Amino acid sequence: MVRRYSRIRRSLSIYTFGDSDHDGADVRRRAIIFGCDSIPNSSVNRKFMHTVLVTGGAGFIGSHLVHQLISRGDCRVVNLDKLTYAGNLEAVADVADDPNYTFVKADVCDVDRVADLLKRHHCSAVIHLAAETHVDRSIAGPGEFVRTNAQGTFGVVEAAKQYWSSLPAEQRDDYRVVHVSTDEVYGSLGDDGAFDESSPYRPNSPYSASKAASDHLVRAYHQTYGLPTIITHCGNNYGAWQFPEKLIPVVIRQAVACQPIPVYGDGTNVRDWIHVSDHCRALEQIWRHGRPGEVYDVGGGGERSNLDIVKTVCRSVDSLVGRSETSVDQIQFVRDRPGHDFRYAIRGQKIRRELGWEPEVKFQEGIRETVAWYLDHLDFLQTNPLA
Ligand SMILES: NC(=O)c1ccc[n+]([C@@H]2O[C@H](COP(=O)([O-])OP(=O)(O)OC[C@H]3O[C@@H](n4cnc5c(N)ncnc54)[C@H](O)[C@@H]3O)[C@@H](O)[C@H]2O)c1
Repeated sequence: MVRRYSRIRRSLSIYTFGDSDHDGADVRRRAIIFGCDSIPNSSVNRKFMHTVLVTGGAGFIGSHLVHQLISRGDCRVVNLDKLTYAGNLEAVADVADDPNYTFVKADVCDVDRVADLLKRHHCSAVIHLAAETHVDRSIAGPGEFVRTNAQGTFGVVEAAKQYWSSLPAEQRDDYRVVHVSTDEVYGSLGDDGAFDESSPYRPNSPYSASKAASDHLVRAYHQTYGLPTIITHCGNNYGAWQFPEKLIPVVIRQAVACQPIPVYGDGTNVRDWIHVSDHCRALEQIWRHGRPGEVYDVGGGGERSNLDIVKTVCRSVDSLVGRSETSVDQIQFVRDRPGHDFRYAIRGQKIRRELGWEPEVKFQEGIRETVAWYLDHLDFLQTNPLA
C-alpha cells in the first residue's frame, strides 16, 4: 500500500510547465543571478540550484512540498519547523539524508534566527506554511494562534526583508516570499457564489482572524518596503500525513474502530476540497512564476458538504477493510462549532489563466488513496490529538 501511494504521489507530482523554454530561461536567469551550482544529472533539465526556506515543513502540507521541491533536482530545501504537536519528522524521514535537504528546529517568531538562516543558506525564496491550524483549538485557546500566525508571520517577513535588503539589486528582483494562507479569511458564503482575490476579508474564527492578520502584514511589507511577497488562499486539503485531529483522519479512525463518527450540526456545511499534491504544485508554480504583490486563490473545484465527505470516507474504509455492514451508520450529529462558517468556495480563475495550473487528482481516487495510506499507518492515525 505504501509503495502504491508513493507511486501515485510521484506520478501526481510530475511537473508540467507546458512552456519549458520559458521555464528553462527563467531558471537559468535566476540561477545566474543567485550564482547557483550546476546539477549534472538533473532529470528535469534544471541546471541550477535554488535554495528555498520552507517554514512548517514537518507539517501536513509542508512535508509534501518539501518532497516535491527536492524531487525537482534544482532545489535545496531548508526546512524550518518548531515541531509542535502537529510537526512530525517522520513525514520527511525519507529525505533526511538528501544532500539538498537541511532541517532546522526553530520558531518563526525568532526574527534573528530566521534572518540568520536565510543569510547562511543564501536562500532565494521563502515559502511560509508554519502556523497553528486547527479551528477548534483556536476557539479553545486563541493566544497561541495570534502568536504563531500573526507574530510568526511578522518574524518571517521582517527577517526576509532584512536579508533581501542586503542583496544586490538583481538578486532582490528574483527573491520571493510566498505566504500560504486560507480561504477562511474571506468568511462564509451562502448557497451561491464563490470567493475570488478581490473578496473582502471577513474572518469568523480566531484561526481565520489570525491568518487574516498575517495576510495584512505580508501585504504591508510589499506595499511599504517593496518586499516581493505573494499571498495564496487555498481550500481544505486532504491527503497523507494530515494530523489526526482533522475531519478526514478522524472519520477514518472512528470508522476503523467501530466508534461514533462525530459530524458538526447537520453536516450541510460545504468546503472546497483539494488534494495536497495539487495545492503543492500550485505553490511551486506561484513561487516560480507568480507576480510579486499579487494574491492567488487556489481552488480545487471540489465543493462538498461535510456529510458527503464523511460518507465517502466511510465507504472507502468499508471497501478497503472488506466490511459488510456500513460505517455510515456510526455517524452521530454533534453540537455545531460556534461561529461555524457555512460554505467556502473558490473561483480560482486567476491561477488557471496566469499560471496554467489545474487540479489533477480526481476526488474519489484521492480519497481512496488517502484512506489506504491511513490504514497502512495506523500508529500515526491513532496519535492522541490531545496529548
Ligand atoms: N490544511 C489545510 O486544509 C489548509 C488549507 C489552506 C491553507 N492552509 C495553510 O497551510 C499551512 C500549513 O497547513 P498544515 O495543514 O500543513 O498545518 P499543520 O498544522 O499540519 O502543520 C503546521 C506546521 O507548522 C509548524 N509550526 C507551528 N508553529 C511554529 C512556529 N512557531 N515556528 C515554526 N514552525 C511552527 C508545526 O510544527 C507544523 O509542522 C498553514 O499556514 C495553514 O494555514 C492549510
